[in-house]
Amino acid sequence: MPHIKLLSLVGARPQIIKASAISRAIRTSFSEDITEILVHTGQHYDKEMSEVFFDELEIHKPDYNLGVGSAGHGKQTAMMITGIEEILITEKPDCVVVYGDTNSTLAGSLAASKLRFPVIHIEAGLRSFTKTMPEELNRIMSDHSSTLLFAPTNSAFKNLVSEGFRPENSPPYTIDNPKIYLTGDIMYDNSLFFAELAEKKKNKFLDRLGVERNNFVLATIHRDTNTDDSNRLQNILVTLKNLAETKNITLVMPLHPRTIVSLKTRLTALYTDLCNSSLIKIIPPVSYLEMIMLEKNCRMIVTDSGGVQKESHFFRKPCIILRKETEWIELVHNGTSVLVDADPELLRDEFLRLMDSHSELNYPGFYGDGKAAEFILKEILLMFER
Ligand code: UD1
Ligand code: UDP
Repeated sequence: MPHIKLLSLVGARPQIIKASAISRAIRTSFSEDITEILVHTGQHYDKEMSEVFFDELEIHKPDYNLGVGSAGHGKQTAMMITGIEEILITEKPDCVVVYGDTNSTLAGSLAASKLRFPVIHIEAGLRSFTKTMPEELNRIMSDHSSTLLFAPTNSAFKNLVSEGFRPENSPPYTIDNPKIYLTGDIMYDNSLFFAELAEKKKNKFLDRLGVERNNFVLATIHRDTNTDDSNRLQNILVTLKNLAETKNITLVMPLHPRTIVSLKTRLTALYTDLCNSSLIKIIPPVSYLEMIMLEKNCRMIVTDSGGVQKESHFFRKPCIILRKETEWIELVHNGTSVLVDADPELLRDEFLRLMDSHSELNYPGFYGDGKAAEFILKEILLMFER
């Protein structure tokens, strides 16, 4: 087998976690075949949004950090493209791996494909079918700049086929003759790998937080449609606070920095009210192992996060999705997740229904066998053998 240089691109919190699955599989199964160069765009930069994951998930420190930080979509993406292009010219990797759907994903796909480096998109084919969502444009453009596309679910694979990708394509694969695969989800690999470790390393976390197992609801909110619209954010949070009081249950909310900024600047009275409530625990973003402890031990999850939705399934918890639509549609079809948008009545009804419905719910294996990263790396290597 040829030895290849693979450039992995991360930038936002979920990508660092995703990349850890690939880095781990390289270390354990392909260290003779693959050298990984890790590039961080710096899209996320707070310690708890970035560094904590490198320490905890044992990923080597980035070889490059562009330090791009926060900015409008155009400026942020442009700065990333400029920086990534320079690195590509210096490093000349055999391929560039991008994860998910953030601006970092888009920047990596564009910079690499324009310089004719093969792009490998992990988490390809997901669609919300709403192009007003910034991530949807990032997904479509990244998929259509890629040479190998790894779809995590059946529906993602079908979406690619319906956009003209041909499963029957044969090698050599190129941007004009791309190959699509159904792989399972590398985040399922991670949840299996890290769940036990979380229990070992973070066994005091819930006590320190002051919550009892199975007696709290976990909520995260960070999607721009929710954080940047004060009415929606207020509707969601007021309803959740009322529900916590009605059911006398604690609500744990590790909030993304953008949500805190919105609360502090535009919903000050509500923020104070929430902070003064004994049932509401607004905390800074937690580490991935701490998040697993919260997900494994909560009663139910309320979220607008893509990753957290799926983790609700991995840890067999009902999930209320604070969005109109989801890319992980199998969760909704399965009845274990429900879409409530930011509708107070729907949120209330579903919260009360799902909180006590555990025994009736099933969690089939939608996300592969926990070895998606190995499969992906094997196929990448094969591309260079052919
Ligand atoms: C980004 C992704 C989103 C993903 C999310 C994961 C895009 C378009 N969006 O959204 O798909 O679900 O990451 O968490 O790429 N901020 C900080 N510190 C940080 C990072 C951000 O304070 O370390 C604040 C800043 O006020 C910034 C805001 O959060 O303006 C938004 O950050 P940005 O990276 O633009 O988008 P996210 O909302 O994090
Ligand atoms: N996550 C975390 N700490 C937190 C919130 C989320 O480690 O405080 C993890 C979560 O377990 C999941 C990933 O971050 O693996 C999801 O990222 P996020 O919700 O930021 O983005 P999305 O998945 O919606 O793009």
